[in-house]
Amino acid sequence: MAEFKSKIRTIEWKDTYSRMVDQTLLPKKYEYVNITGGQQMYDAIKTMIVRGAPAIGVAGAHGVVLYAQELEKEKLTREEFVKKLLDRADYLITCRPTAVNLRWAVEQQKELIKNSKSDINGIVEELKQNGIRLEKEDIEINKKIGDYGATVVPKGATILTHCNAGALATVGYGTALGVVRSAFANDPTIQVFADETRPRQQGARITTLELTMDGIPTTLISDGMCSYFMKKGMIDMVVVGADRIAANGDTANKIGTYTVAIAAKYHNVPFYIAAPLSTIDTSIKTGDEIVIEERSHDEVTHINGDWICAEGVKIINPGFDVTPNELITGIITEKGILRPDYKKSIAEVFKK
Ligand code: MRU
Repeated sequence: MAEFKSKIRTIEWKDTYSRMVDQTLLPKKYEYVNITGGQQMYDAIKTMIVRGAPAIGVAGAHGVVLYAQELEKEKLTREEFVKKLLDRADYLITCRPTAVNLRWAVEQQKELIKNSKSDINGIVEELKQNGIRLEKEDIEINKKIGDYGATVVPKGATILTHCNAGALATVGYGTALGVVRSAFANDPTIQVFADETRPRQQGARITTLELTMDGIPTTLISDGMCSYFMKKGMIDMVVVGADRIAANGDTANKIGTYTVAIAAKYHNVPFYIAAPLSTIDTSIKTGDEIVIEERSHDEVTHINGDWICAEGVKIINPGFDVTPNELITGIITEKGILRPDYKKSIAEVFKK
C-alpha cells in the first residue's frame, strides 16, 4: 500500500513549551503560537486555538508539563508539588467536557505523577517524555486507522465528511481525513465533499484548507446540502471523526453529524466513524451519558463579527450531537473496523 506524506504538524513539544498551529486564524493565516504556561494552555483549548479530540488530548498532556514547570520554580516540598499539580491537572480537564481524549491524556499524566519515584525535577522530565510519546503514538495510530479505513473506500469514491477530523484535529495525518489520505495514496481519483459545519465552520475553514494543502480534490458544500447530493447518488460514503464513543457505539461528534447520519441511512450510503480507541469511553453505557458542551451564543448570532439575526432572539448552541449506534456502518480504529453489535465488538477489542 502506498504511503501518503502530509505536510501538517498541528502540535509539537519544543524543549520547554508547546508549539501549535493557531486554528482560530485559519484559513487566512497559517501561523504557529508558542504556549508557555499552564493557564495559557487552558485558554488555548477553551478558545479553540487547538481543537479536535486527539489534538486536545496531546495539548492536555503538554498543559500538565507546563504547570509542572511553573510549580518547579516555586520551591515546594515534593508532597506540595504533587498535590498542587494534580489539582491543576483536574482543572485542565474541565476546559472542554465532550471530547474524552482530553481526560484520557491528562489522567495518564496524573497516574505518572502519582506513581513516580523521582524527585520534582525527575517528575517534570517524565511528564515531558510522556507527552512526546503521546504525540508520536497519535500519528502512528492515525496511519493505522487510515489504512484500515482505505479498505472500505470504493474506487473513485466521493467521500462526505463533516467538521474537521483531519491532521489539524490530531497531531498529524487525521482520523476521518487519515482514511481519505490513505485511500488517495492508492487511488488519486477519489474526492471529498466537505460540509461547511456551522457555527464554527471547521469544514470550510480547516478541512478544505488541509485537503487542498495536500492536493486532495475537495468540494465545499453548506450543511443543509448533504441529503440533496445523496439523493442524486453523488456520495458513496460518509466518514467522520468522534469526540466520545459510548460502550454501545453511540457517538458524539460535531453538531450536525447526526443529521448527516440520518440522511445517509435513508439514502443507503455507508456511514463510518474513524477514531482511536482512546475516544471510546467504556465507562458509559450509552450516548445519553455524554456531556454536551454548550458554547458561546456569539458563535450563532454572528458571522465574521457581524450580527446575522434579530437582536435579543433566544439562542441555544450545543457543540456536539450524538449519533445512535444503529446509524453507524462501522467504527474504524487502529485495531481494525468494529461492526455492529458494537456492545460486543467494543468489549472484544478492549479485552484484547
Ligand atoms: O469543536 P471541535 O472543532 O473540537 O470539534 C471537532 C470534532 O467534532 C471532530 O470531528 C472530532 O473531535 C474528531 S477529531 C479527529
